[in-house]
Amino acid sequence: MVIFKKTQDISEFLAGKRSGGARIGFIPTMGALHAGHISLISQAREKGYLTVCSIFLNPTQFNNPEDLKKYPVSTDSDIQLLISSQCDVLFLPDVEEVYPGGPDNVVSYGFGELEEILEGAKRPGHFKGVGQVVGRLLEIVEPDTIFLGQKDYQQVMIITALCRLMLQDTNGFRPSDIRIERCPTVREADGLAMSSRNRRLTEPQRAVAGTIYQCLVSIQAKQYNSRFETVKRECGEILASKGFVTDYIAIADARDLRLLEEYDKNIPMVALIAASIGKIRLIDNLLMD
Ligand code: PAF
Repeated sequence: MVIFKKTQDISEFLAGKRSGGARIGFIPTMGALHAGHISLISQAREKGYLTVCSIFLNPTQFNNPEDLKKYPVSTDSDIQLLISSQCDVLFLPDVEEVYPGGPDNVVSYGFGELEEILEGAKRPGHFKGVGQVVGRLLEIVEPDTIFLGQKDYQQVMIITALCRLMLQDTNGFRPSDIRIERCPTVREADGLAMSSRNRRLTEPQRAVAGTIYQCLVSIQAKQYNSRFETVKRECGEILASKGFVTDYIAIADARDLRLLEEYDKNIPMVALIAASIGKIRLIDNLLMD
């Protein structure tokens, strides 16, 4: 695996690979890698891409500075994990490299209602920051395909919108041509979605953390014979009984994340939950087939 810290170096390297016929599959991360990230790399490899992973703890997407401070950092073991997963390239920039002259110098995009609902409502400015950093990374890496985990469903939609909003650059790179691969969430045996935040769960918190997934499964299972309002109330009670504080339990149109009051079997739906246990906030979702 080749590691680059400088924008110019990785750009030149990838330009050479591209002109040699390589297709670039990009996996952006903030580090603290786990099996979910590795599955994205495996999927990119299996599809024949030159795999480029980035590790950059993006300060502009944390509306709560405490969250940024506590975000787990494990760069050395991340590198070992990437090597053993046969990742081809790692981009490991510092803040100045990603935001030369500061984040205010980087274009930021507006995503309308999509950045204001669900995660956006609970974490104001979060998706602006995600758009900013991913926009910069796409300019640097110029991938053919970006591999993203379904666990961050709203983030996948934001990045899809971002690619449509970004303009063609002077070298002819067209972000609107980037393919987005939304890859299935990787789960622990009890259904808990893999997440870097899981490392911060205490043993008793970890023991109940699978409840979020169980609630999603019950929202899915009850779509044919219950009202969503009732299922939502039941799930809220179950989560509270296990010590969770729920931010939202929602169903939405899976195509545009338009929130739904009631199940609608005529459209593809997704169920989404965000809840905290102690100081750890977890999110998860399930497509309802
Ligand atoms: O999902 C993440 O880890 C981050 O939000 C991302 C996409 C790498 C942007 O910093």
